[in-house]
Amino acid sequence: MSKLLVVGSISTDFVVETKREPKVGETIFGETFQTNFGGKGANQAVAAAKLGAEVEMFGSVGSDEFGKRLLNNLKCNGIGVDHVQIVKESPSGSAVITVMNGNNTIIYVAGANDAYTVECLFQNQQQLDMLKQRDMVIVQNELPQATIEKLINQSYQNRIPVLYNPAPARKLPENLMEFITFLTPNETEFQEMFPGQSISEMIKKYPNKLIVTLGQNGAQFHDGNKIITVPAVEIEHVVDTTGAGDTFNGAFAVAYMEGRTVEECVRFANKAAAISIQKPGAQNGMPTKEEIKKLL
Ligand code: RIB
Repeated sequence: MSKLLVVGSISTDFVVETKREPKVGETIFGETFQTNFGGKGANQAVAAAKLGAEVEMFGSVGSDEFGKRLLNNLKCNGIGVDHVQIVKESPSGSAVITVMNGNNTIIYVAGANDAYTVECLFQNQQQLDMLKQRDMVIVQNELPQATIEKLINQSYQNRIPVLYNPAPARKLPENLMEFITFLTPNETEFQEMFPGQSISEMIKKYPNKLIVTLGQNGAQFHDGNKIITVPAVEIEHVVDTTGAGDTFNGAFAVAYMEGRTVEECVRFANKAAAISIQKPGAQNGMPTKEEIKKLL
């Protein structure tokens, strides 16, 4: 079984479905309200675990009721939480999400996720051993920047491949690119990270490393010879795209750890993401391998 380490956010999503957005000062009636498990880190961990990986998670939750539920959800998905810390000084992370016609907008409040500072990472030998035993590491941008950089550096030193999903977007220190195995921004994140640059230019500069996800247009990367565009799987009725990117990343990592080519990984990840958007919530629609096979 492939062994994955996910270092990232663990949050509760407060989700409102609405037919339109209110104007400033206006109150409108929403359609539905749901509380879901979320956080980009936790979502990616669950996506990979559902697809059969052995997943360990590093991160922080608050000592509140939400924190207990978040930890329990990870455990129920078979994810190792021995290194998730419970902090008293902040509430658990949260996200306020509005879903309109299947698309979403998200306001993320880091809370306890921000307490996973650089000092928390590899503070003991067990954590370092955990890293060394892994086939891959995934990290996103819902943690402090210094933590992310230390993780990437340590992983590189220990020759553990790193998938860095730069969401939400942040400027990337140029020298970090060298230590990352895969960087997976979506189109919006790409524009923020590489202002004024075209996708085709940048994927050529970073072949088999920079993979740009394009929503319903699939994903694009350069294989060293040419640009490869892997189309998305068409879905008739999109319910909720929240967590589609996380499903893509978790699935990509699973396929990569199984020794597949980058193109095969993207194809597999596109299928997983397509299935995930047919149910509400970030984690509810994440598929198993059997469900992906059925899609074939
Ligand atoms: O990628 C989707 C996730 O981002 C949501 O689950 C929410 O927690 C946000 O941070």
